Amino acid sequence: MTTDAGDFAKKVKGVVRKNFNQSAQIYRAFEEKHHFFYTLTRKLAEWMDLQSQSRVLDIGCGNGISCEALRELYDATVFGIDLSEAMIEDAKSRLQNDRIHLVVGDGEHLSAFFEAEDFDAVMYNASIFVFPNPKESFLEAKRLMKTGGVVGFSFYPRVYTSENLDLIGWAYEKLGLPIPRFRTITPWEKACRMLQEAFGTLQTTTYEMPGSVDFLVDFFSIPAQSASLFPKQPYEERAKSVKTLFETLAPWEDRMTIGWDMAKAVKKP
Ligand SMILES: C[S@@+](CC[C@H](N)C(=O)[O-])C[C@H]1O[C@@H](n2cnc3c(N)ncnc32)[C@H](O)[C@@H]1O
Repeated sequence: MTTDAGDFAKKVKGVVRKNFNQSAQIYRAFEEKHHFFYTLTRKLAEWMDLQSQSRVLDIGCGNGISCEALRELYDATVFGIDLSEAMIEDAKSRLQNDRIHLVVGDGEHLSAFFEAEDFDAVMYNASIFVFPNPKESFLEAKRLMKTGGVVGFSFYPRVYTSENLDLIGWAYEKLGLPIPRFRTITPWEKACRMLQEAFGTLQTTTYEMPGSVDFLVDFFSIPAQSASLFPKQPYEERAKSVKTLFETLAPWEDRMTIGWDMAKAVKKP
């Protein structure tokens, strides 16, 4: 990595960490209402064909909802790592289980924390899109996986009609607001290319759920998520902007889909 790229990555991670440190409480309230991250973890794990009693590395585990789902649904032993101290603190306060291990750390520097060839699976549930260098993380994850192990990620949401109209873009246009140039730090195509380069294989799918204004307002009101839509505004203002943006979608309420793209790969011999 060049010094410029290194500086950029450091800066991005500082912002991401700060945003998620601000998010822990709202994140928990969102999950209590929607049970969403638990469901998304289940969908990703099913599609990855995760085996019962696997040892799983959960990268960007947040406040441990994905760890909890893997533990409960797959009787897995889970190792969670997250950049945000507040998210890990919340996870520790909720989950006291001797088969869930949590650590504060950078998912792009995994070798400092984990042993080689120790995991049956590696999962990034709704986290990889805020990593500046997914390839570094994928290569390290591969080293930590057993041969035949599976890695998978779920991505940032798309909101669309049956004609594939991007409704988030539509809402910005309707309100006469400038569309942010990037909604994610790493775009979907780049994350997929990097996974393919690291593992030599790749499969993708999309988990689709019916869209609702209420869900979208709540999801994007999480401070870290709102920063992806209105990056320059302070949080109070962002929360208002999010509400206005998604309330514009009320006419589409019964006709919108939220798509969560997913990618997976297997560590070949
Ligand atoms: C949307 S949350 C998802 C949390 C969890 N996987 C779940 O399903 O509830 C994304 C998490 O990724 C974490 N994250 C972002 N960049 C990271 C990095 N470089 N290393 C470790 N964690 C990171 C954030 O701190 C945040 O907690």
